[in-house]
Amino acid sequence: MKRCVVFASGSGSNFEALVQASCNHSLNAEVVGLICDQAQAFCLERAERLGIPSRLFLKADYTDKADMESAMRQACEQWQADVIVLAGYMRIIGPTLLAAYPKRILNIHPSLLPKYKGKDALGQALAMGDSVLGVSVHLVDEGLDTGPIILQESFTIDPKTPRSDIEIQLHALEHSLYPRAINTYLKENL
Ligand code: GRF
Repeated sequence: MKRCVVFASGSGSNFEALVQASCNHSLNAEVVGLICDQAQAFCLERAERLGIPSRLFLKADYTDKADMESAMRQACEQWQADVIVLAGYMRIIGPTLLAAYPKRILNIHPSLLPKYKGKDALGQALAMGDSVLGVSVHLVDEGLDTGPIILQESFTIDPKTPRSDIEIQLHALEHSLYPRAINTYLKENL
């Protein structure tokens, strides 16, 4: 069974969905740890409840990004991670982690990439009046949401749908798409 470490900065609903998918065998990998960069992030509470070890890395404790990523790499190595899975991790992955896990870092992004890279992709899509929205899972490279796409899926909304309802739909799609995308990736690459 391949071992994945999840990186998250916020709520962690995707992290929890991955842990559940692993437990019910719809994800062909084990979630062996959570790395978080925000002390107040709810994903840390989820990890505790789910019995998944977590580590908190605060930017202020490190001299620079390379230093912080070296410490994160050590944690990933201690957990014997095969793959790193970003799930709402709000930092750009730098050369230290990219070199340690080449083509082994995945991200989920709430748009039909290459459309709407970066922050608030849903807001960007809604501002353009899009009625077809979607989610992409891609490999992480040195760019922002630019790596090769592994899997993406769309859904159609009524233009009058409130954003809060769209977010519920979007998250539900993310929670089902991410395990499937990781399985596809593992089958083809590891
Ligand atoms: C998700 O929408 C994901 O696509 C984006 O950040 C959000 C994280 O949500 N990268 P959660 O913390 O997993 O609930």
